[in-house]
Amino acid sequence: MTGILAAMQIEMALLAERLENAERRTVSGVEFLSGAIAGKPVVLAVCGIGKVNAAVCAQTMALLYHPDVMINTGVGGALNRTLHVLDVVVGTYAVQHDVDTSALGDEKGFVSTVNRLRFPLSERVSDDLERALVDTGARAVRGAIASGDQFVSEPDAKAAIAERFGASVCEMEGGAIAHVCLLNEIPCCILRAISDGADDGAALTYAEFAERAAHVSAKAMIRYLEAYA
Ligand code: ADE
Repeated sequence: MTGILAAMQIEMALLAERLENAERRTVSGVEFLSGAIAGKPVVLAVCGIGKVNAAVCAQTMALLYHPDVMINTGVGGALNRTLHVLDVVVGTYAVQHDVDTSALGDEKGFVSTVNRLRFPLSERVSDDLERALVDTGARAVRGAIASGDQFVSEPDAKAAIAERFGASVCEMEGGAIAHVCLLNEIPCCILRAISDGADDGAALTYAEFAERAAHVSAKAMIRYLEAYA
């Protein structure tokens, strides 16, 4: 079974429309929809915005459904000039850019207990997601994902995240989902279509493009399920 998580309803809508034999279950405040898309077993969940919401959803999904893989689909802010609105980044690794115990001598982004900065993402499933993106005509790029509990819209913050973590995209959930997947030994992937430039104009660009970007990512997810899952 493929677990699919999105922060917002607009990121899940196209997938939910395609769900067959849907069964609904609400646990820990999260509604899980299980069934099949293109004949492939899936569980869908809109986790809400931010790392804690994402972690609660991912952990609950892991315990209830034991998915073989969890894929986080949605939108994100571009951290470099080579990325344009509606391009899609398939994550190479995830970081939690807002974790900071540097006052105690740790590197910024270092997550104690699991004692790491980078959270792994499945290369095998990411290769298939990239194929699915190409099939749908989207521009697919590989890059690191930086997650934190902020909507990044300030050039200095953007530059610091890009440089410190070598990241291509900022968003607010993927690093938490990858963290939960690591703890539960579940392969994880992150797919993020660019909705804005994470700088001065980000709020306006996001308002204009978030829904279209969300659909680009969701269409690739559907193609992945049809052809590669
Ligand atoms: N998701 C989409 N755009 C974003 C941004 N600029 N910062 C954080 N999350 C986002």
